[in-house]
Amino acid sequence: MQEMKQDSSTLSWNAMGDEWLTLAQTGESRMRFIMPHMLRYMGDVRGLHILDLGCGEGGYSRAMSAMGAFVTAVDCSAAAIRYAQEQAQREGLTITHNLRNSNDLFGIPDASFDVVLSSMMLMDVEDLAGTLREAVRVLKPGGRVFVSMLHPCFDGNHERGIGRQGQGESREVVVKNYFEPREWDAPLPNGTTSVIWRHRTLSEYVKAFLAAGLTIADMHEPRATQEEAENFRSLTMIRRIPLFLYWELRKISC
Ligand SMILES: C[S@@+](CC[C@H](N)C(=O)[O-])C[C@H]1O[C@@H](n2cnc3c(N)ncnc32)[C@H](O)[C@@H]1O
Repeated sequence: MQEMKQDSSTLSWNAMGDEWLTLAQTGESRMRFIMPHMLRYMGDVRGLHILDLGCGEGGYSRAMSAMGAFVTAVDCSAAAIRYAQEQAQREGLTITHNLRNSNDLFGIPDASFDVVLSSMMLMDVEDLAGTLREAVRVLKPGGRVFVSMLHPCFDGNHERGIGRQGQGESREVVVKNYFEPREWDAPLPNGTTSVIWRHRTLSEYVKAFLAAGLTIADMHEPRATQEEAENFRSLTMIRRIPLFLYWELRKISC
């Protein structure tokens, strides 16, 4: 049987074990902001064949499957794939799960998806070019990639967490050095196990997208509504600063 390719990102996320599963499902910004805003941004997914790349605990896969998409989910974390598989089964959803490094989607045929979703994972992968190459390979011509990431201009660099300081209304992002460091070890917010964080500049992402044969159809800085900010304390900052960046990319049709 072919084994998953290991690199620093797959080793690091496997060392997290189950921790991400809980953090993901209890994290206010993921549950109340990043995920609902992305699902709205993607629009109607009914009938589409979608690859959830770096699916984690599988929340997006289940939501898209429940909306009528045909979903394949991939992650490098054995704990995440096991949990996502069990949860889909419990909810009676048909989702195909694969343990893979995103830079080597072996067994997944060329041109088989309308959409690849990469939610909050591109900044984690060691091999950005290889991940984008594989995403483009499995997309049909004209297919789309939806990406969410920590906004590279406001991820802070990195002496204190990701540069976020203060509380409530006065919380701010302090950007000390946009160009360095490029990677560092730290636990996730509210976590205990260290994982490798990676910072790439905005232009590195754009150049990598273009080099992979993708065009930029849209770029979006989701902003918390007044109501979201009033209801959830962690979202007040996203009324003022775009902590997350979304992209809609399109595979160039030959
Ligand atoms: C921050 S989590 C996001 C999970 C999910 N997409 C979400 O938004 O809830 C990053 C995910 O990417 C996965 N990941 C990191 N590097 C990877 C790689 N090289 N190949 C496949 N998955 C990877 C991790 O295991 C983890 O589940």
